[in-house]
Amino acid sequence: MTEGAGGGTVVERLRALGPTVSVGMLTADLGNLARDIAVLEGTGVGVVHFDVMDGCFCPMTTIGPPVVAAVRTSMLKDVHLMIEAPLRKVAAYVQAGADLVTVHLESDRYVRRVLVELGDLENVNDPGRGVARGVALLPGTPVAALEPVLDLVDYVLVLAVDPGWGGQRFGPPTPQRVGELRTLLDEARRDVLVGVDGGVTRANIGEVAATGADVIVTGSAVFDGVDPGANARFMLDALARRDVLPA
Ligand code: DX5
Ligand code: ZN
Repeated sequence: MTEGAGGGTVVERLRALGPTVSVGMLTADLGNLARDIAVLEGTGVGVVHFDVMDGCFCPMTTIGPPVVAAVRTSMLKDVHLMIEAPLRKVAAYVQAGADLVTVHLESDRYVRRVLVELGDLENVNDPGRGVARGVALLPGTPVAALEPVLDLVDYVLVLAVDPGWGGQRFGPPTPQRVGELRTLLDEARRDVLVGVDGGVTRANIGEVAATGADVIVTGSAVFDGVDPGANARFMLDALARRDVLPA
């Protein structure tokens, strides 16, 4: 039974899964994507992460709506848009089956409008789910910059790496930034899910889990070309242990 199954809105499903991993498919075997997705589903992972890069917002070009649509899965589709000017593009990703769409605060001067538009779109997998609205922060953007959009988001993704360069290490300031975000959310009385993305490995998943993040994105440490299933199970177990470890 895939972890991501179950009823309710996307936000309710993510809360029910939490803390959980969202596995980045960028380093999966794209020539055998259905096989690799099935491996993930078999481990109980409930969320698959699609890194969309346009070569403008960051120096890499990856995938678009056709690939998101091509993936058949019961996992939640978590689409991370590292693209310029997403306002007129988010609808295509929702149409492709996105359950959660995360746009970068730095990517559109009208980011509030993007979030309002996302809120008006119907989830094509199941209208009852709704589409969860995320905003992401590059490592160089102060957490306080989120304040103007906190009323419109369901999810905030804190990047631990600069997108578009492979093999980067998890940014040391990230745990403190997650703490600053929690404080900002508490002060704003906003119950928003928190995610961390980039450079998460077997070696540091415990440290990252200890930040209290609800969703931890990990890609190349799972799809390492050796044993994605074992890697995914290791990450899920590490998060499960967080709940039983003393605070
Ligand atoms: C930034 C992306 C990340 C990345 C995953 O590059 O948003 O999701 O692909 O990073 P790793 O492979 O380090 O988990
Ligand atoms: Zn990502």
